[in-house]
Amino acid sequence: MIRFDIISAVPSLMESPLSHSIMQRAKDKGLLEVEIHNLHDYGIGKHAQIDDYQYGGGAGMVMMPEPLDNIISELKTSRQYDEIIYLTPDGETFDQKMANSLSLHGSIMLICGHYKGIDQRIRDLHVTKEISIGDFVLSGGELAAAVVVDAIGRLIPGVLNNESSALFDSHQDGLLAPPIYTRPADYKGMKVPEVLLSGNDQRIEAWREARAEENTNRKK
Ligand code: ADE
Repeated sequence: MIRFDIISAVPSLMESPLSHSIMQRAKDKGLLEVEIHNLHDYGIGKHAQIDDYQYGGGAGMVMMPEPLDNIISELKTSRQYDEIIYLTPDGETFDQKMANSLSLHGSIMLICGHYKGIDQRIRDLHVTKEISIGDFVLSGGELAAAVVVDAIGRLIPGVLNNESSALFDSHQDGLLAPPIYTRPADYKGMKVPEVLLSGNDQRIEAWREARAEENTNRKK
């Protein structure tokens, strides 16, 4: 069971991706818990302000330290976090290996940035790990957080059934997955490779391994 506490200025961005299919089933089974906290509830003053201009000038607003410090500190009083992660394009690039190791944790806090990002002092004070989901810039950390929760959530034992076990995924053994087919065996003249219809498990396994290697060499 893993619990994620996610801090966001736009919680609704994440609700749908984490409320369907495998993620919803993981929650229903009590294997995954996701609590999304609205940063605006911790805003300062009558306008519940959460961002301000950047010292030194420059375009784009910065998320103020106080609202973030208040919510993070409050969450920290109710549980011990294995990691407090800030989603940012200048973080360490997320991959399957990182998902595997994070899936061993019980409690993770995710902080989603907006605008230019968060005040450096919050990173210095609270953040234990910084993750980027790739070398591109999103308009906020929410989609990145949903990606991270999904990739980790499906690795929690009991979330996937044996048939779709994460052990056989692309990337788990450093290889991309081989091509896959379902019925019909002939679609508009395009035929499923004969070996897959052979019933010979050994030949099928050898074919899959060879195609996985081919795929990996071609695309990576
Ligand atoms: N926030 C904005 N862009 C991001 C990215 N590529 N990864 C993680 N968080 C982000």
